[in-house]
Amino acid sequence: MTRTTLLATVAALAFSATGALAQDRTIGFSQIGSESGWRAAETTLTRMQAEERGYDLRFSDAQQRQENQIAALRSFIAQGVDAILLAPVVATGWDSVLQEAQEAEIPVVLLDRMVDSDPELYLTAVGSDLVHEGEVAGQWLADTVGDRECRIVELQGTTGSSPAIDRKTGFENAIAGHDNLEIVRSQTGDFTRALGKEVMESFIQAENGGRDICALYAHNDDMAVGAIQAIKEAGLKPGEDILVVSIDAVPDIFAAMAAGEANATVELTPNMAGPAFDALEVYWTDGTVPPKFIQTESRLYTQQDDPAGEYEARKDLGY
Ligand code: AHR
Repeated sequence: MTRTTLLATVAALAFSATGALAQDRTIGFSQIGSESGWRAAETTLTRMQAEERGYDLRFSDAQQRQENQIAALRSFIAQGVDAILLAPVVATGWDSVLQEAQEAEIPVVLLDRMVDSDPELYLTAVGSDLVHEGEVAGQWLADTVGDRECRIVELQGTTGSSPAIDRKTGFENAIAGHDNLEIVRSQTGDFTRALGKEVMESFIQAENGGRDICALYAHNDDMAVGAIQAIKEAGLKPGEDILVVSIDAVPDIFAAMAAGEANATVELTPNMAGPAFDALEVYWTDGTVPPKFIQTESRLYTQQDDPAGEYEARKDLGY
């Protein structure tokens, strides 16, 4: 290939069907905040993916507030971005702003959480099967305790968020029919380490200094890590006196598993932006509409799965 042909080929590849250079693509990203290690990793990976692909990423941190996200979306629409990534803090209340994006012909891709709006209002959603995650956690616990009586405490995620709703449902599905398993206390810890610890302290106090608790199910690892601290401060051994199962697979939970202080976690990949950008690129190129839901994998890790190695492999990935 001659130098001229090579340059022409590179130039042709850089142009999409609509004639815009890849580097000219502007993406608005409305992120929930930084409530967890997982969320931090998702932000890091989204920035990296955008940089690798030559996009101008406009980032907005909503600090956990839906009204901030709605304002950010309106600002992205006014700026005329080429696409919007939205990690919606709660499931309800998005219809109007999604309608506005659609009227402006700006495709919206949901990341990691779902909304209850008409799916016609967004291009696609990238995420895991959140009900399945809860089922995997519940099944692990049912298999682990067998016929033993087990009083479970549950730390829920952010109230009204799709992972809090679905992970609860999934876990309850899995333990239904096991009369020896009972959720005796359940409260939100808002997906944060600090609140996870605080709520666990109140559970321990209400449950005979923690001695009546057999297992903790936390909707994310950060709350589990906070709760593990509370269990230790109460003079009990997390992972032994109180089994700990949670969701995300962040490095800190693997460190806890390696120390015998946590038992199992269900992985949620923080790389939601990769599949989102892949779908957008195909859509921009030839108008192919992606499937409404692009599902990421959920894998169970236990203490048998080399937690120390998993910690090492993940500790520098932006968590
Ligand atoms: O929506 C995904 C959840 O949000 C993660 O499990 C949790 O850590 C985060 O805050």
